[in-house]
Amino acid sequence: MGKKNAFPILIEGLKKMEYRGYDSAGICVGHNNDLMLAKKKGRVVELEKDFLNEYGVCSLDGSCEKRYELKEIKGGMGIAHTRWATHGEPNETNAHPHFDCKKEIAVVHNGIIENYNALKEILEKEGHIFVSKTDTEVISHLVEKFYQGNIEEAAIKAIKLIEGTFGLAIICKKENKIIVARRGSPVVLGVGENENIVASDVVAILPHTKRVIYLNDNEMAVLMQDGYAVKNLDGQNVEKNIEEIKWAAEEIEKGGYKHFMLKEIFEQPKAVENTLRGRIDEDNNVKLSLDIDFSNLKRIIIAACGTSWHSALIGKYLIEKSANLPVEVDYASEFRYRNPIVGPDDLLLVISQSGETADVLAALREAKQKGAKTLGIINVVGSTIAREVDSGIYLHAGPEIGVASTKAFSCQVTALLLLALFLAQKRGVKIDKEIFVELKNLPKKIEETLKNSDKIILLADKFKDAKNFLYLGRGMNFPVALEGALKLKEISYIHAEGYPAAEMKHGPIALVDSNMPVVFVATKDNTYSKILSNMEEIRARGGQIIAITNEVSQDIQRLSQNIIAVPRCAEELSPIINTIPLQILAYHIADKKNLDVDKPKNLAKSVTVE
Ligand code: G6P
Repeated sequence: MGKKNAFPILIEGLKKMEYRGYDSAGICVGHNNDLMLAKKKGRVVELEKDFLNEYGVCSLDGSCEKRYELKEIKGGMGIAHTRWATHGEPNETNAHPHFDCKKEIAVVHNGIIENYNALKEILEKEGHIFVSKTDTEVISHLVEKFYQGNIEEAAIKAIKLIEGTFGLAIICKKENKIIVARRGSPVVLGVGENENIVASDVVAILPHTKRVIYLNDNEMAVLMQDGYAVKNLDGQNVEKNIEEIKWAAEEIEKGGYKHFMLKEIFEQPKAVENTLRGRIDEDNNVKLSLDIDFSNLKRIIIAACGTSWHSALIGKYLIEKSANLPVEVDYASEFRYRNPIVGPDDLLLVISQSGETADVLAALREAKQKGAKTLGIINVVGSTIAREVDSGIYLHAGPEIGVASTKAFSCQVTALLLLALFLAQKRGVKIDKEIFVELKNLPKKIEETLKNSDKIILLADKFKDAKNFLYLGRGMNFPVALEGALKLKEISYIHAEGYPAAEMKHGPIALVDSNMPVVFVATKDNTYSKILSNMEEIRARGGQIIAITNEVSQDIQRLSQNIIAVPRCAEELSPIINTIPLQILAYHIADKKNLDVDKPKNLAKSVTVE
């Protein structure tokens, strides 16, 4: 909202936000008491192409009732959305923004309106005509119902009736204002010079201003040509602090790499260095400023999703081993709906790159409500989860844009090891000081590991047409097997399964034949000899073994023609070192298949719906 033409700002903003959802996109710009709209199934570039190349015009409501030359689109007020479908298939009609009957009010929305069916029924009885299958459209019609010349009042009345989660923005062609509101889905307000920009992630705001206000649940903001106001949902003003984003604008660019994922893989030495920075002092004490009383702590429960859940599994090994404290790990979505038994003697640790994953947030709130202490390991500063935990450890990994998480994983495991050592200190458990030497060398070892890239590219070529992959590991490297399999399936669409190496005898071995590549994480630890036996078992059934190892022994050479050698390191760090080749392998297989590595189908970077 401002004096500049909103259209190019919105297109660029959508491109930055696209990793959050990319099945369809839409824009609506208000100008001269009219709303100009364009929607398109597919990526933002498709939408942009329509505007810029093919037609050079945009149409009202996609129905070409009135067409505008591109040069005519000059409005300083606009909203835009890139969608990850929840209700209604991805198509042009279901793409946001959604209109009221008179096409005077437009709405974009993240989240889920849980009572949309009931509201829709009422509105339809009152004569409202719905065109899409989305839950969002009820908001436009509700606002229309209450609109009597004041969009802010109408929005408040509508919001009071909706149940569920929302991060939304509303415009009305008769007023020069944008109304935004949040409950459960992130909304950040960027405060610029003579302009204010709202987005659900700071990455879209960063090119315009570093000064932001994070809305809390049940807050709204009104953006006007000459300012903004933050209010509660009763319309009363709320005082908010303006905070400064620390990320540099270049960090959200590809910087010469073909994909963000590749860039982020290669950023890992720096990212891990940043996670470690200032957290180990000269006397090898871990320094974490955690505002939590650990004295009567009986148990840690870790809740997370996706890749963060895999680092949580590694965290269990690390904390139990170093700090001698029991740890349970849960999928956040399962924890929340199980009526978990947690209380004041427990610490709920949530791990989330984005700090916005809805299930993790729900788990956190549930545990808090039951009196548990809460701690977060989070990357995005100022995110909802970061603001709601009692205390937290930021990763400082920089923005992660590729949908498949890479550097955040390495930093999460690093932070978990720091936490494990910190807890060991607090609990008086003896620490082998060698681990600090290893930790300080970790960025260098990651760099060394990244040098394997060329060899892995050859393996990617050899195995890119496989239909299935099996990933096996033991101990701390079992979650690495899970993560390797997840990386491959999410970006290459090859079916892959991760399994504890010994457990594969109880099922997956039935799938093994000469067409099945089996990736073994076989680095030297107390399970090394056992894992060699597991490799023999696969070999005996004709499986093609890819071995990640720091001990290129004769045995391994006999068992595998596809060896990826990694540097030796402490067992605690092996999950980080061993995951890197698996990230690179997945990346190159997907790239060789010409797939969109950064935006794999059906996925989204942060899942802000339950
Ligand atoms: C999505 C992403 C994954 C991520 C997971 C958890 O599924 O595609 O890469 O690991 O969400 O996200 P979080 O931001 O909570 O770590």
